[in-house]
Amino acid sequence: MKRFFSPLALSVFLITSAAAMTSCQQQNASLPEEQQISSGETENPAETKTAAVEEAGNNAIAKETTVDATAKECEAIYAKNCKECHTLAPPATSAPSIVALAGQYRARYSKKEGAVADMVSYMKAPSIGKSILGPKTFERFGIMPAMTLPDEELEKVAGWLWDQYDPNFEGDGDCQ
Ligand code: HEC
Repeated sequence: MKRFFSPLALSVFLITSAAAMTSCQQQNASLPEEQQISSGETENPAETKTAAVEEAGNNAIAKETTVDATAKECEAIYAKNCKECHTLAPPATSAPSIVALAGQYRARYSKKEGAVADMVSYMKAPSIGKSILGPKTFERFGIMPAMTLPDEELEKVAGWLWDQYDPNFEGDGDCQ
């Protein structure tokens, strides 16, 4: 009986071993392929560069959108609180125009920060002593009423006013 089972046992062993070897070979065979795919993913400089450029482009667009939104927001503060007296450009009606004021501030201040700080201080408590404008302005328009807006909005609208500077604008600006 032993002799009858032994060849069977041997052949079972052989078949199992052969199957095991085949599966090992298959695994080994698939390994280089996997390596190829992964190295293809990491070492494709063209694709990596395109992705980086695209991301930089998206960031630039996002930045532009923020700048635009801020400028629009500031202009809205002007439209709501200042426009009734200050026209954007000459002719002036009941106060110097915004472009004329921007020219006056640019002539006196080299830095936006300083101009904005003084504008905010003026708008909260206007006085002839603090004014950067000449006596003609007060003779024609009188003095500006104090603004009761939050500091944050005054700063935004003052920064926006500074940005409205037009290098082609001519004149002393007090009454224009
Ligand atoms: C009711 C009318 C009126 C409103 C509203 C008004 N202003 Fe004026 N503003 C004036 C007049 C008049 C002057 C000129 C006399 C003066 O400087 O006080 C002036 C002057 C200014 C000046 C020059 C300050 C200086 O040194 O003399 C700035 C800056 C200014 N306005 C900004 C603003 C801004 C920004 C707003 C809105 C948040 C605003 N004003 C709203 C009437 C107004």
